[in-house]
Amino acid sequence: MASITLQNLVKKYGDGFPAVNDVSIDIDDGEFIILVGPSGCGKSTLLRMIVGLEDITEGELLIDGERVNDKAPRDRNLAMVFQNYALYPHLTVYENIAFPLRLAKGKHSEEETNKRVQAAAATLELTEHLERKPANLSGGQRQRVAMGRAIVRQADAFLFDEPLSNLDAKLRGQMRSEISQMQRRLGVTSVYVTHDQTEAMTLGDRVAVLKKGILQQIASPRELYEEPTNIFVAGFIGSPSMNFIPGQVENGKLQTVLGELEIPQHKLDKAEGKKIVMVGIRPEFFEDAKLVDEAKKPLGATFTTRLTHTEWLGNEQYGYMDFDPAPEVRDLLNSLAKDLDADELKPQIVVTLDSASRIRAGRDAELWVDTRKVHLFDPETGNSLTRDPEAGAALTQEAIQDRQDEIEAARSEANASGQQAS
Ligand SMILES: Nc1ncnc2c1ncn2[C@@H]1O[C@H](COP(=O)(O)OP(=O)(O)OP(=O)(O)O)[C@@H](O)[C@H]1O
Ligand SMILES: [Mg+2]
Repeated sequence: MASITLQNLVKKYGDGFPAVNDVSIDIDDGEFIILVGPSGCGKSTLLRMIVGLEDITEGELLIDGERVNDKAPRDRNLAMVFQNYALYPHLTVYENIAFPLRLAKGKHSEEETNKRVQAAAATLELTEHLERKPANLSGGQRQRVAMGRAIVRQADAFLFDEPLSNLDAKLRGQMRSEISQMQRRLGVTSVYVTHDQTEAMTLGDRVAVLKKGILQQIASPRELYEEPTNIFVAGFIGSPSMNFIPGQVENGKLQTVLGELEIPQHKLDKAEGKKIVMVGIRPEFFEDAKLVDEAKKPLGATFTTRLTHTEWLGNEQYGYMDFDPAPEVRDLLNSLAKDLDADELKPQIVVTLDSASRIRAGRDAELWVDTRKVHLFDPETGNSLTRDPEAGAALTQEAIQDRQDEIEAARSEANASGQQAS
C-alpha cells in the first residue's frame, strides 16, 4: 500500500509536444483515482510515467514520499493491468498468476508461491479454473487472471489502462463492479485510465479530468457533476451532456432562446459586467410542465416550445429542440465540440422527461426548467461563474470519508475471518 504524489509532471515526446503538462495530484493510500478525458489527452502517458515505462521530462514523482523518477519499473513495486491482459497462452491459469513470483528467481519458495496463488484465486473466484488455459476462459475470467497476477506480487498500487475496453457491455458492467469490490477489499491504491463515463463515475473516489495534457479538475464524481470548474468538465461529465445556450442579462433577468429565465440573484450577480454568458442546463433540469407540482412551479420557469423529436426509453424519455445561435455563440460551440472530441456540437437542447409525459414532437409543448440549478460560464475563458467551491469541497470530503469507512470495514471483516480460520 502506498501514497503516490505527482508534482508538476511534464512529458515531452521527441517532437517537443507536451503530452502531459504540469500535472499535480496527491493520491492517498488506498484511494481509487480515475484519469479521464478525450482521446489523446495524455491519460496513458501519465499512467506510464507513474509505472516507469516513460521518462519524466520535468517534475517529481514520489511513492510514499520517496522520489522515484530514476527508479526502474521493477523497483517501483507497482502492478500494471493492461487492456489486452498479456496472458501467456501456453501456461495454465495457475502458472499465469504465479508468473511474477517465478520471475523473481528463487525469491519465493514453492510453498509461498502456492499460498499466494491460491489466496489470489480465492479472492477472484478462479480456484476451479486454475488448471485451464487462457484460451478457454471468458473475457471476464481472463481479466481476473490478469488481476491475480497483480495481486500475488503484493504490489503497492495497481495501475489500469482501459482494462475493460475489450469486453462487451454486459461483461463490462459485471467486471466494473468486481474491480470496485476487490479494490475496497484489498484497500490497494489504484489509478485507472478510461474514457468511459460510467466507469469513471462509478469506480473513482476522485476523478481527474484531463484536456490536452492539462489537469482541468480533480474531485469526487458528485463534485464534478454538480460543481464543475469549467465548461469543458461540465460538458464532458454527464450523459446526455449538459446543454449550453447563450444568455444575456437584462433588467435582472436572463434572456435566452428559451425565453426569460428568472435565476437566483446570487447567481445573476456573478454574471455582472458580461454582455453574454453561457448558460449550462442539464437535461434533467427540464420536465413536462404538466407533471410538475404546482407548489414547485414558481421555483423554476415555464415556457412553450416545440420538440423536433422524442425518444422513449422506458424509464424516461429524451426530447430534442433546435435553436439558432448568434454567430459568436456558434463559434464557441464549435470550439467546445473540438475540445470534447465531438464532430460538431449541434445547436440543440436535449431534455429528459418523465416516461409518463405525453409531449410529442411537432406540437406546442409546455416545459418547465429548474432555474435554481443552472450554471453560468464565462464565454471567453470557459470558467464557471457560479461554481460554489465550498459546496464542492464538501462533496469530495464526503466521498473520501466514505472510502475510509469502507476500507476500514473491509479490513476488520478480513481480520475477523482470519482469526476464525486460525
Ligand atoms: N511515443 C510517442 N511519441 C510521440 N508522441 C506520442 C507518443 N505517445 C503518445 N504521444 C502523443 O501524446 C499525446 C497523449 O497520448 P496518450 O496515449 O497519453 O493519450 P490517451 O489520453 O491515452 O489517448 P487514448 O484515449 O486515445 O488512449 C497524444 O497527442 C499522442 O499523439
Ligand atoms: Mg490511452
